[in-house]
Amino acid sequence: MCGIVGAVGHDQCGAVLLDALKRLEYRGYDSSGIVTLHGGKIDLRRAVGKLVHLEATLAARRLDGNVGIGHTRWATHGGVSEDNAHPHVAANRVSIVHNGIIENHRTIRKRLELAGYEFASDTDSEVLAHLFLEAFDAGLDAVRATKSILAEIEGAYAFAILATDYPNQLIVARNASPLAVGIGDEACYIGSDALALAHLTRKVIYLKDDDFALVSADNVAIYQSDGSPANRETVIVAASPGIVDKGGYRHFMEKEIHEQPDAIAHSLAAMTDNKGQLTATMQVDDLRAITGIVMLAAGTSHYATQVARYWIETLAKVPVVCEVASEYRYRNPVASAFSTAVAISQSGESLDTLMALRHASSCGLHTIGLINVPGSTIARESDFVLPTRAGPEIGVASTKAFTAQLTVLLSFAVALGKAKGTIDTERAAQIHSQIQSLPGLVGRALSLFDTIRPIAHSLSQARSALYLGRGTLYPLALEGALKLKELSYIHAEGFASGEMKHGPIALIEEGLPIVALLAADEIMAKASNNLREAAARGGQIILITEERGVNEVDFVNTVITVPNVDPLLAPILLAVPAQILAYLTAVEKGTDVDQPRNLAKSVTVE
Ligand code: AGP
Repeated sequence: MCGIVGAVGHDQCGAVLLDALKRLEYRGYDSSGIVTLHGGKIDLRRAVGKLVHLEATLAARRLDGNVGIGHTRWATHGGVSEDNAHPHVAANRVSIVHNGIIENHRTIRKRLELAGYEFASDTDSEVLAHLFLEAFDAGLDAVRATKSILAEIEGAYAFAILATDYPNQLIVARNASPLAVGIGDEACYIGSDALALAHLTRKVIYLKDDDFALVSADNVAIYQSDGSPANRETVIVAASPGIVDKGGYRHFMEKEIHEQPDAIAHSLAAMTDNKGQLTATMQVDDLRAITGIVMLAAGTSHYATQVARYWIETLAKVPVVCEVASEYRYRNPVASAFSTAVAISQSGESLDTLMALRHASSCGLHTIGLINVPGSTIARESDFVLPTRAGPEIGVASTKAFTAQLTVLLSFAVALGKAKGTIDTERAAQIHSQIQSLPGLVGRALSLFDTIRPIAHSLSQARSALYLGRGTLYPLALEGALKLKELSYIHAEGFASGEMKHGPIALIEEGLPIVALLAADEIMAKASNNLREAAARGGQIILITEERGVNEVDFVNTVITVPNVDPLLAPILLAVPAQILAYLTAVEKGTDVDQPRNLAKSVTVE
């Protein structure tokens, strides 16, 4: 999942592309590069690591020219090195940047190497540069060359080609990986998403799968893979904020943790109609038509679906299955029992979730996209969109998008229950007012940084940790463990508390940190018994609970409390201290909080 950009017709091309790449660094930060065409010659700059290194290279050796392409990399094939950094160049005539995976690259590479083409990297992407060189050498023009190459390659791709043969245009194509074309007043641009181009233009064309285009300064000619011309809609995308800054916080994650009261309030407002009713923006008939839900998502979003299952089954009595998107995609699911697929994604671009959504749609399910990035591919391809209003989330570890997703999912469960008549208006209004109290409660939980800091200090010494929760807090235990893993690189595992005694309890030894999530709900007694069993084996319990939960667990020394809350809302409120604990542990360990190793914010490969 890399970020690609391009510009044609802009005289500050190098600087413009660097700025656009800054807006795409969330997609990968293993290496980066930019190439321009100047005086008929290809001029290349690349650097390993974060964009700041490329910026330094460009400051030392400027790039001229009014046409260029750029890339920020998340390594899939070939280690992290300058040779494997994009753009790749073939014979100083063709340069390419690519996001995705060319699945049949080995076969193609073998054929090209036998034909005498020399490769400089270990990547799958480099085959594209030599394929275009081969096609141009065979006398094919840009359209026929692209058509024949798209017929040969397999896999997911969004790529851009800059060739000395065609000095005033870019050749771009997409299949599964996102690609937007930006129409400027005197220049045109391309990017992995419209956000990358927002500082240049808001007039955007989203290419469809199997489309390719020839982009010049004043024209965009679009074709389908068979070479036939295609018309694609030009949309005006919402003005996006400039490069989001940290607002005085040390990290984007710290800022986004603090933005949760607003993210929850705005997302709740989006679910409320102008009469103040919680309708989830859906018509009653559409809600009544929902007879079974398949939830599709990855990572943190997947854990949000697991919490929502409890709510929807309880409030609306509608069966729900929570699927790991990458698994669902390649299964032969018996879809007939379900009417609706809900795909949940912060970025709206996770390829596993997008492909699972398409799979569900091909099985005849009605599709709903619960999305934080407006205009993203999943939003555009869903039959219906439930928006979260968390605002741009830059930190790779999801925080405010998670609590915003839970707010929208609980609102949806209430609206569904009302439409189905499984809860009455009074109960719905009661839950609605409790959700309205959440921003205030979360605001109070944000004062826990100082309480948690010393606990994080001791946790940062650990090599592994367990997270326990029961009921709606079981998925939150999974989420808490994911946060600690991805931020501090401490091996952490989440379990349903009741499941411990069936095996995982063997992991417990003297001093093992166990983060326990406990709500004052009907299973509190059972859950605290499970904690007693863990403490009896030497586990060091770090308890996260409501103020009224403390008395229930008097054998625990390390306690983090949040204000009392209705059990229904406990997973949203208790998520905040779990986030703060993982954040502060990572700060203690000195890891890269906003851009953890080996990760990226939006995963656009399968
Ligand atoms: C969460 O902190 C991670 N960044 C990751 O698990 C993420 O939730 C997952 O990749 C899904 O992303 P999405 O919500 O944008 O689809």
